Amino acid sequence: MIKIAPSILAADPVNLERDVRRAVAAGCDWIHVDIMDAHFVPNLAYSPDTVRRLKEFVNVPLDVHLMMDHPETLLDEFLKAGADVLTVHAETGDISGLLDRIHDAGAKAGVAVKPGTPEKMILPYLRKADLILAMTVEPGFGGQKLEESVARKIRAIRDAGYSDEIEADGGIREDNLQWLMDHGLTVAVMGTALFRNEDMRAAIERMHAFR
Ligand code: DX5
Ligand code: ZN
Repeated sequence: MIKIAPSILAADPVNLERDVRRAVAAGCDWIHVDIMDAHFVPNLAYSPDTVRRLKEFVNVPLDVHLMMDHPETLLDEFLKAGADVLTVHAETGDISGLLDRIHDAGAKAGVAVKPGTPEKMILPYLRKADLILAMTVEPGFGGQKLEESVARKIRAIRDAGYSDEIEADGGIREDNLQWLMDHGLTVAVMGTALFRNEDMRAAIERMHAFR
């Protein structure tokens, strides 16, 4: 069954607890926490303290997406704060040692790539990664249009023999999710499409029925 991971970037930042409680009550599988450093991406979002406070009341995995240069500088902070899945971008450098540190802390390790980054950049990590995040928009902002070329990358990662989680993030809606699943997707990050939906539970139930 597809996992639905609402992205808090699309939540109201000054009513974050209200919106995250709404998403969890609506039956989401994970909560996707976007972290941005205003350098790797032209936006700034959240912190280890956000993860720590969410961990106090969220009873589904926190899927933390580090859109930051030098992820090694805050990796331990996010792990201590309670990240269940911690994803770093392959574009930031050789992340092999970071994946080991994430595993040593007992969390799942994710490798993310931007739409324009070829899958060959992640092939060295396939054995270590518990999750591959194929960004379907240029990272930094919600509400963008899905870049359809990324479906080919998802299929190529599956064809390379990768059998663990493949997550996509950005521009995913009910009407393009099945197509992504047909290419091998197993986790869908959804911000705008979910938080703007007045019946989030019904939407998640419908998508959980997709095969
Ligand atoms: C973009 C973020 C996404 C975004 C979700 O850099 O990583 O998680 O918030 O995008 P939408 O709103 O298109 O689902
Ligand atoms: Zn994200």
